Amino acid sequence: MSGSANPMRLLILVLAVLVTGAAAWQSPPASHGKTPPGPISRFLAQHWIYPLAPEGPPPKGYSALTGSLSPQSCGECHQQQYEDWRTSLHSRAIGPGLLWQFRIMSQTQANRCMRCHAPLAEQKALAAMEFGWPDRPSTPPPAYVGQQLFHQGLTCAACHVRRQHRFGPPPSPGMPAGNTPGLPHDGFTATPAFQHSRFCATCHQSPPWGRSLDGKPFENTYAEWRASRFAHEHVTCQTCHMPDRRHLWRGIHDPAMVRQGLRISLRVTRVDHHMAEARAVIRSVHIGHDFPTYLVPKVYVTLYAVGPGGRDAREIARQTIGRSVNLRLTHEYFDTRIPPGGASVLAARLALAPRPATKIRLRIEVSPGAHYERLFHHELLHPEHYDKATLSLLRQAFAQVVAARYQLVNLTVPIPAINGHSRRLVAN
Ligand code: HEC
Ligand code: HEC
Ligand code: HEC
Ligand code: HEC
Ligand code: HEC
Repeated sequence: MSGSANPMRLLILVLAVLVTGAAAWQSPPASHGKTPPGPISRFLAQHWIYPLAPEGPPPKGYSALTGSLSPQSCGECHQQQYEDWRTSLHSRAIGPGLLWQFRIMSQTQANRCMRCHAPLAEQKALAAMEFGWPDRPSTPPPAYVGQQLFHQGLTCAACHVRRQHRFGPPPSPGMPAGNTPGLPHDGFTATPAFQHSRFCATCHQSPPWGRSLDGKPFENTYAEWRASRFAHEHVTCQTCHMPDRRHLWRGIHDPAMVRQGLRISLRVTRVDHHMAEARAVIRSVHIGHDFPTYLVPKVYVTLYAVGPGGRDAREIARQTIGRSVNLRLTHEYFDTRIPPGGASVLAARLALAPRPATKIRLRIEVSPGAHYERLFHHELLHPEHYDKATLSLLRQAFAQVVAARYQLVNLTVPIPAINGHSRRLVAN
């Protein structure tokens, strides 16, 4: 019965939020967090305990740079990680798509979103000041917090710093151990938990008691990974999304990353004098979860017949890959996602008379934010519901998801003149 909500647990969670939710800069007196890490699960349960406690002021003797929570400060010494992170979606986790909603949400609702989008207590406090929420600090943020921290989204400190102590993976070859004397920020605690897929699950997997639809959780990435061959081969989220420990986190927004995960082929066969057949196969060969894993993105696959001289192109078949649900998330229309190792096939027969055709074209388009495209568009139909500032953010959010669309594949193969077949392959 793990799927049913336990009222007692809910009550405890609510109480916990009330007790620790007060927005303040000071950390409650508690252990400094230097306790040696236990088994991975125990470490992660502590590391991702929500809501995260305030980091508190840096220990005595830290310079302004070393004590600062701002990603730029970390970047003064960890340049590569900072340069990478800046280009990733984690650094943009607070954008107009969140901000317009925060303007019409209660503090409690928005704090729930920030658990994944901007999880530090200091970020919630800054947001409370910005939106004028009831539970906001009465003093300006101390220097080590930095004015911009809320807008910086999923920052270094959210993953690496607790109570001002640094945690990281076991050092790379040639790098000092965490307890080497003289290291800035008093060194660090190394734990293999950072190399485990469960580290990411805290935000990329719905908990067992989370909402689901048709028996399927809204976010099931970790479970999909667990069931795949990649889990058995020790290919983790980090292996694919943080190769060589790079902080890039490329995903469905990046065409090169998506192509890397797929093998796509288009084969055209001449069945007889009057008939040709086209068959496109999209196989998931290097994706550690469903393609795509969330209900948000959609992949549009279309086959066209093209007439002599490249003219008279017409659609002969189309399919959408993804999980499609209504805007209120209460009804699923279809689920055509491709599991790891699986394939999606789109085939069509085409009469070559009376409209002649010489080529077949396969086009694949990706909308990484298709669900939000629909949601934002729907809201824009009622501009009178919003004040000017909210509307402006909503428009920006809509423009952003539309701009994220791209063409993944545009492939043409000739229709063979006599019985036979022609074939082309892209990616892998
Ligand atoms: C359990 C973690 C989690 C929580 C809680 C969460 N999100 Fe997200 N959110 C994600 C992830 C992961 C993505 C990226 C994948 C995707 O597009 O679905 C995302 C993407 C988004 C996006 C699209 C990208 C963007 O920045 O515009 C919006 C909008 C969004 N979330 C809004 C919200 C709102 C509003 C809430 C609170 C009601 C919320 N999220 C709560 C994890 C979370
Ligand atoms: C979403 C969580 C997350 C965020 C945000 C994040 N990191 Fe990391 N970081 C990790 C994980 C996980 C690893 C270990 C990866 C591995 O072992 O494959 C890591 C590794 C590291 C390492 C060790 C690198 C090495 O080569 O040994 C450093 C240093 C580091 N991060 C600094 C930073 C800095 C600085 C930022 C911000 C600019 C940052 N991290 C943001 C999760 C994160
Ligand atoms: C004054 C320079 C300096 C600043 C500022 C700094 N660090 Fe470090 N950090 C170091 C040095 C030096 C090491 C040890 C060598 C290494 O692992 O890169 C280290 C180690 C680490 C490690 C351990 C890497 C591993 O192998 O596991 C993490 C994680 C880390 N720092 C995170 C951060 C974060 C997050 C910030 C900002 C909140 C930050 N550091 C700010 C200098 C700095
Ligand atoms: C504290 C919550 C949190 C943690 C921990 C976290 N993520 Fe994320 N991740 C997010 C959110 C939120 C987004 C969406 C940001 C946005 O677009 O607004 C995201 C986006 C991504 C994306 C980009 C997806 C796309 O649409 O292209 C990838 C890939 C990703 N995360 C992988 C990872 C991996 C791998 C780890 C573990 C090392 C991890 N994340 C840990 C919250 C988290
Ligand atoms: C074998 C490589 C591989 C592994 C392992 C893997 N991913 Fe991915 N991931 C990809 C590729 C390729 C994409 C782009 C295609 C796609 O969106 O499915 C992607 C996309 C994503 C996205 C974009 C959103 C979406 O709807 O697809 C997120 C978020 C993500 N991965 C998180 C994770 C997390 C968390 C784990 C571990 C539980 C993980 N990935 C394991 C290769 C991998």
